Amino acid sequence: MDTQDLLRDLDEITSGYQRSQILFSALNAGIFPLLEESRTAQEVADALGGWSPRGVRMLLDSLVALELVSKTDGRYRNGAMASSCLVPGAPTDQTHIIKHKAFGWETWGKLQDAVRTGSPVQADRPEQSSEELRAFICGMADIAKHSARAMLEELDVSPYRRMLDVGGGPGTYAIAFLEANPDMQATVLDLPDVLPIGREHAASTTVADRLTFTAGDMTTDSFGSGYDLILLSNIIHSYGPEMNRELVRKIYDALEPGGLLIIKDFLVSDDRTGPPFGLIFALNMLIHTEAGDTYTTAEVCHWTDAAGFGPGRLLDLTPQTRLWLAEKPR
Ligand SMILES: C[S@@+](CC[C@H](N)C(=O)[O-])C[C@H]1O[C@@H](n2cnc3c(N)ncnc32)[C@H](O)[C@@H]1O
Repeated sequence: MDTQDLLRDLDEITSGYQRSQILFSALNAGIFPLLEESRTAQEVADALGGWSPRGVRMLLDSLVALELVSKTDGRYRNGAMASSCLVPGAPTDQTHIIKHKAFGWETWGKLQDAVRTGSPVQADRPEQSSEELRAFICGMADIAKHSARAMLEELDVSPYRRMLDVGGGPGTYAIAFLEANPDMQATVLDLPDVLPIGREHAASTTVADRLTFTAGDMTTDSFGSGYDLILLSNIIHSYGPEMNRELVRKIYDALEPGGLLIIKDFLVSDDRTGPPFGLIFALNMLIHTEAGDTYTTAEVCHWTDAAGFGPGRLLDLTPQTRLWLAEKPR
């Protein structure tokens, strides 16, 4: 690689935070819905309620640099990615998950402290607001809608009748599974503040009468019994190995013989050299949790073996997400 290429690649890493903040600022200002029709910088500044035309022009030009927005004769308009992902209600709406990531700006700024102490860091703002919780839970739905479709392409859920979605949040997976299997009933277990958001999501579907939202704390409560399918999606990264082993044990107890456990997470290779998303996400857990991490397939297999599950099966769902499937022996 010649020096120019080397310096360009290095600058992409060094300046990455600027690109993120351009997107966060434009999204939080509500610029993308405005750019569904073409506007000048002055018109955008006016529509935002008298923002600085100079500042808005620079932000819009930087969106052009990121190829999110096009500019013709001084008028700006959303490009394809902005129209489909950055406008609320768009087909691939990612606005909640981006807002959720924007909330992580301050804590990620304290990464070095987290690395030095091995402990989570706190944002300087007060306790998590309802806006922040909603961005998190609805952000999970932004991602899950697409993962659920990919999961259902890989898995036949028709044999299952009673599903439990542990830490199911907005209920996106449970809803997708119920839509795929009219004979299934599902329960989403989550914290009390989260349940109203999940119920809202379910209300706009045709499966709400087969879906129950139950308040519970997965770290202390038992999971009941009689389930033949239990999903643990994007949960294990929040906890240390001991808690995960205990969650898997409680799931084993709650499953009927022949029942299936699906663990979905950003599983990394055994030597922890990839995929990149899982390696970087581990730091997100260092920053925000006491003991969370990303795990290897070998570690997850160890927990299911210890609980008494049969041999597990690994399934690549997306470049960053894998499933570990294990059945309780009949
Ligand atoms: C990363 S989200 C995953 C949501 C969903 N399973 C998915 O994959 O889209 C973690 C979920 O676990 C829930 N959660 C966190 N701590 C919990 C606890 N102690 N008991 C029950 N749910 C909890 C959160 O409210 C959130 O809905």
